[in-house]
Amino acid sequence: MRPRRIYRTPTTVDLEITDICNEKCVYCFNFDRDLSMGSLKLDKGKIDQLVRQFINFEVFHVISSGGEAFANFEMLLYLNKKLKENNISTSVNSNLSIKAKRIERLQRLFDSGCDHILTSLPSYLSDVTNKLVNSKNAFDRITSGIEDAIKVGFRVSANMVVHNSNKNQVYLTAKLASKLGCQRIFATRIVGPDYETEVDYENTNDENPNILSKKSALECLDQLIKARDEFGIDVSTIVSYPLCLLGDLQKYADFVGRGCPTQRGHRLNILPNGDIRSCVHLSSERLGNVFNDEIDLSEQYKKLRNWHDGSLAFNECKKCDYKYVCNSGCRVDAKAYSGKLNGKDPLMVGPIINGKIHGKSLRNFVPFKITYDKKTREIIQKSDFVVSKEARFRYEENFYLCSIKYGNIIEIEYEIAKFLIEKQQSNLSFNLKEFGEGNIQIMIDYFCKDLIRSVDNRLNNTRNKNLLKKGLGIDPNNLPDYDKFIFK
Ligand SMILES: C[S@@+](CC[C@H](N)C(=O)[O-])C[C@H]1O[C@@H](n2cnc3c(N)ncnc32)[C@H](O)[C@@H]1O
Ligand code: SF4
Ligand code: SF4
Repeated sequence: MRPRRIYRTPTTVDLEITDICNEKCVYCFNFDRDLSMGSLKLDKGKIDQLVRQFINFEVFHVISSGGEAFANFEMLLYLNKKLKENNISTSVNSNLSIKAKRIERLQRLFDSGCDHILTSLPSYLSDVTNKLVNSKNAFDRITSGIEDAIKVGFRVSANMVVHNSNKNQVYLTAKLASKLGCQRIFATRIVGPDYETEVDYENTNDENPNILSKKSALECLDQLIKARDEFGIDVSTIVSYPLCLLGDLQKYADFVGRGCPTQRGHRLNILPNGDIRSCVHLSSERLGNVFNDEIDLSEQYKKLRNWHDGSLAFNECKKCDYKYVCNSGCRVDAKAYSGKLNGKDPLMVGPIINGKIHGKSLRNFVPFKITYDKKTREIIQKSDFVVSKEARFRYEENFYLCSIKYGNIIEIEYEIAKFLIEKQQSNLSFNLKEFGEGNIQIMIDYFCKDLIRSVDNRLNNTRNKNLLKKGLGIDPNNLPDYDKFIFK
């Protein structure tokens, strides 16, 4: 297997524009929000400074978060406008529960070019939601906020943080999300706070609200799959599950994504006062400050090298065939339960080696493929293709990174990227012969990931229905044995 690639700068920034929040969700990782009383927020000058750096260092995608992003609304809008002007894609994390001027603000945000909101929806039951958000009427505020955002035209994804008090409500919460008009629901496992250490996870009997057993975690995903099949809602999870837990990577393809985005080198987190963090969930970490330190973003990013070079991976994961996809599970959850950032993800089963999971697996192993549909090969052989106009390319040493859309970013070999960039710029179509017959698998993957499209739209539509929703976040380069394909 080729060594891990290190990037020059982050591809995606998670930017907290304020630490103030109108809600107080009991599970929230921002446990220190009360201490600062909302004193930390970005202003225009600081946003200008940051956006300049994002442009210089070719950041593809910025997620505005908080605290509650709408609690610093004018700056949220200013940031989004600046990013849009500079071809940096955006997304907003918001609880959508601030009712004041909501429709008007949503409309202004939408008009600024932002079209996606991720919102927290803890349960389909109003009393459970109100209890978890710690406030009366939270359920009504959130659900009416989702409806408002959808009316304005946003794609809304609901994020349900799952723990023992709501784990049996995943299916019905997905049903509600679908009814409200959400495009997608994530059932994200709760990440333990980084001050909680050394729980005997292997022997837990599920009494701690924060601990999902392996069986419960898989049952949550089964509920999502049932909801997907019945209501047509897209399903996924924000914090990845170890692939050795999923086992059947065909059945659970919706949950095979980019793994840990920080270890993969994509993500940098910036707090409202400019402090940087490797992971949003690592609440006690301060690695530097983008406003106070005399170094630029690329130098700040180098402080995360131990995340990027694999040194934080749990030892047994280092021999796993899927280590570049999974990235050793969640490092913060590993810390919460083992006391160490390079400890074992509590949901890990054991390394996958040559098609076998070495551990007590709950599902039989089925390998992951970007598509299991044999007809795609024929489409690639007979059609002409164009490169998506939305794709953005960034040069790295000896290879390229490509944002297909938003934060869906993959590595591309130098020669292949040059070929695609040339075709995109000249607006010319190409076929398999020109791309290289030996690269058919790469072309299949790019087609399924929507980097290239057939000139015959009917063929694209078959793909959209059957294939596009699965494994979208994955970089095919990281799959076992991918390096055997060479550009000819
Ligand atoms: C901290 S919130 C900030 C944005 C906004 N206030 C909201 O609630 O959507 C960002 C995301 O993190 C999720 N989240 C909060 N605490 C979490 C935890 N302990 N584990 C996993 N995800 C969590 C939330 O559901 C939300 O989707
Ligand atoms: S350690 Fe990685 S996987 Fe876990 S929450 Fe942070 S970025 Fe996500
Ligand atoms: S062994 Fe580690 S890297 Fe492999 S699938 Fe499991 S958690 Fe992920």
